[in-house]
Amino acid sequence: MTEPIQRPWWQDALIYQLYIRSFADSNGDGIGDIEGIRSRLGHIASLGADAIWLNPCYPSPQHDHGYDVANYFDIHDEYGTLDEFDQLVAEARDHNIKILMDLVPGHSSQDHRWFRAALAAGPGSAERDRYYFRDGKGADGSKPPNNWQSAFGGPAWTRINEDSDDGQWYLHTFAREQPDFDHTNVDVQQLFVDIFEFWFDRGVEGFRVDAVAGVGKHPDLPDQPPVGPDVGVLDITWVNPYIAFRPEGHEAWRRFRTAADSYMQRHPERELMMVAEAYAVRRPEIIKAFTEPDQFHQMFSFDLMLTPWEKASIERAMQDPLAILEETGVAPAWTLNNHDIQRIVTRLGREDAHRPESWTNNNLALSRAGVDTDLGERRARAMASLIFALPGSLYLYQGEELGLPEVFDIPDDRREDPVFERTGGAEIGRDGCRVPLPWDDDASSSYGFSVPRPNGSVGEPWLPQPAGWGAHSVATLEGIPLSTLHIYRKLGEARTAYATNQPLTADPVELGAGLVGVRRGSLLVVVNTTTEAVALDMNNPELADAQLVFASEPDEVDTPDMIPPNSTLWFTT
Ligand code: BGC
Repeated sequence: MTEPIQRPWWQDALIYQLYIRSFADSNGDGIGDIEGIRSRLGHIASLGADAIWLNPCYPSPQHDHGYDVANYFDIHDEYGTLDEFDQLVAEARDHNIKILMDLVPGHSSQDHRWFRAALAAGPGSAERDRYYFRDGKGADGSKPPNNWQSAFGGPAWTRINEDSDDGQWYLHTFAREQPDFDHTNVDVQQLFVDIFEFWFDRGVEGFRVDAVAGVGKHPDLPDQPPVGPDVGVLDITWVNPYIAFRPEGHEAWRRFRTAADSYMQRHPERELMMVAEAYAVRRPEIIKAFTEPDQFHQMFSFDLMLTPWEKASIERAMQDPLAILEETGVAPAWTLNNHDIQRIVTRLGREDAHRPESWTNNNLALSRAGVDTDLGERRARAMASLIFALPGSLYLYQGEELGLPEVFDIPDDRREDPVFERTGGAEIGRDGCRVPLPWDDDASSSYGFSVPRPNGSVGEPWLPQPAGWGAHSVATLEGIPLSTLHIYRKLGEARTAYATNQPLTADPVELGAGLVGVRRGSLLVVVNTTTEAVALDMNNPELADAQLVFASEPDEVDTPDMIPPNSTLWFTT
């Protein structure tokens, strides 16, 4: 074992994505909160996390669960107070855990004071210039300014004051409650500099920057060219050349980077970072453009998250991020789950999970084939065992360590995601991966999610938990020696012992049919994507003197040269 390598912490970090509303509820109102996080920091530390990425916890009317920010300089009252947030940052630091916030630059909430002021001020005002207000088409302006569609379904424009002379329209790439900012406006530019300063001063170490693909628009707002019938309702926005991946956005990112760099110059002890969120699968030129040295430090690699359980597809998914690393030195930010995507246990447990043609880039529209969650959980462990070894950061979404499946049996009247309503129910939306976490087997406290109020009562969890949820709970899995929770903890340890002390490089290794091989320095990782145990050829020079150091199904490994089906092994050579 060699000494840890000195590199910026975020290049090779394990980051726990924490969806605050569903993590832990300290006051029995059925909604997760900051005190809940503080009470469970030990769990996050037990996974070996270097940082927490907190989904938005700013004041918000919660039309898109925090991605509609009403005030960027405070904490949402259901979640706690700024004082509690400061305590969280300090206590997390005691566990060697940094805090990253979620920054939503593309839009505010309709409740933001600037948007209200814009409505009040009227056409042509400086207040309206912070957003995209335009007159409608047609003699009475009753038609939207152009044909753009929202990423959540339905038109991207909403008209205000339909019955008055001021019948302008405003643009919203997402829901109507999320009006788009115009980043060419100097007030908007200054707002984000102020946001950085405010949260960096509170000890936040960086930001996950939301939906960067849609920031910046073609200045003339031209009509979108016709799209083919194969483009799904939630994809129309992302094939709109006047919204998606616009050069205008990069001007904003350069300003963001200047703000972060300027802060670091004034505080040289800080090592701040920003990771960009956009779906740029198989579009390496986009990742490179966003991670130019004057823009983001990293950008998510969603390739493995959107990949079937099949050798060639998994190898292809690693190719672009690793090539970018080699070419530019920008380390990937690997992800298998997040709050927008069907959980991996369900995806990889599908009967057709191994068929590339059954996959699309849009996980909400995935296959409806039957699901074997035991199989999916096993493959999820194997896939995690791959990304824990790879060079770069990895983002682990809460509940992944519990092997949680997607929850489908949520009654329509309890669905909260605006996608459900805006598509008239055609898309069920993302609630199924956001169900509150089970901490124990006690159904009377929402499986340990809620601490009862002083009178002993517990509010309904904001999204219903399915019956039997306690079987996936932390307390239950603690008691099962090779549970997914224990495997994730072992992975965290193995990562420190054998992966992060290796160079930031990785190369594919050919080890046989159905086997995905990757070498990172002296660490060799093998994934068996087949349904059979496979004999490894120990005479292959890649496996010379190989020592088995980790297995995703340890109780099935009798000899190191036999790799169990749907599993991963780590060797040092
Ligand atoms: C976030 C979503 C959110 C959307 C709009 C996405 O990238 O991850 O949860 O609904 O941006 O802000």
